[in-house]
Amino acid sequence: MPHFPVNGFNMHVVTRGDGPPLLLVHGFPLDHSMWSAQIDDLAKSYTVIAPDLRGFGQSEIVDGPVTMQTYADDLAALLDAMGISDPVHLCGLSMGGYIAWAFVEQHRDRLASLILCDTRATADNEAARKTRELTAQRVLREGPDFLASDLIDKLFVKSTREQRPEIIEQTKQVIRSTHPTTIAAASRAMAARPDVTDRLPSIDLPTLIIVGEHDAISPPSEMHEIADALPHATFVEIKDAGHMAPLERPEPVNAAIEHYLETLH
Ligand code: MLT
Repeated sequence: MPHFPVNGFNMHVVTRGDGPPLLLVHGFPLDHSMWSAQIDDLAKSYTVIAPDLRGFGQSEIVDGPVTMQTYADDLAALLDAMGISDPVHLCGLSMGGYIAWAFVEQHRDRLASLILCDTRATADNEAARKTRELTAQRVLREGPDFLASDLIDKLFVKSTREQRPEIIEQTKQVIRSTHPTTIAAASRAMAARPDVTDRLPSIDLPTLIIVGEHDAISPPSEMHEIADALPHATFVEIKDAGHMAPLERPEPVNAAIEHYLETLH
C-alpha cells in the first residue's frame, strides 16, 4: 500500500477508482478501514482517497502536539504529493468533520463539496475537555485497551452491537492497535478545537449532512442545526444507525452520497 512523504512523515493512503476525487477522512481513534464499505462502491464513479491520519493506521507515528489544522494541512499536502489539483469532495466522519472545518478555513479553494457524517460544529465544554485530558493521560499510562471497551457503546447502536459482531471486533482491533501517543495527541487536539458555529453561514460549499438516527455523540437534532445554518446543505438521517453510520448501514449511506454527488456533476 502506498505511502507519501507529507509534512515530515510518511502518510499511508488507500486509493481506488477513477473520476472526481473523493477524500474520506476517518474518525477517532480509527483509520481508513472504517470506510471499507464505501471505498470499492464509491470507486465506481470517483477516485476514492482514504488516508490514515498522522500516527493512525499504517501512517508513521509522529511525536508532538497537533491541532485539527495540522491534520487538515497534512491532507492538503497529501493531495499535492499525489498530484491531485482538481477540487475534492471531502467526506469526514466525526473528528474527520472537525478536520473538514479546518480544511475549509485554510484550503477552501481545493474543495468541491463537503460530506459531513456524524460530527459537530461546537467546541467541547469544560467537562468534556477534562475527560479528553484524562483519556490522554490514561492511554499514555495504560495503552488503548480500555478505550476499545469504553467507546463501543457510544459508537454503535444496540442492533449493530448485537447483530454485527465482526464490525465491532474490527473496530476494537483498530483502537487496540493505535499508538498511545497518537491517541493522546488527537484527544488533546479535539479538546482544543474551536467552535465553528458562527462560521457556518459563510461556508458556501454544497454540503451533505449524514447522521445516524441514534447517534449518541452528535445526535440528529444537533446536525439539523448545522444543516440549517449552512447556506447549501442537504440533510439525510440514516435509520437504525448510531455514530458510525457508514460502517453500520453502508447501503443507505452510499446511496445518499452517490445520489448527492450525482446532482453536483
Ligand atoms: C469520533 O468519532 O471521531 C469521535 O467520537 C469524536 C469525538 O470524540 O468528539
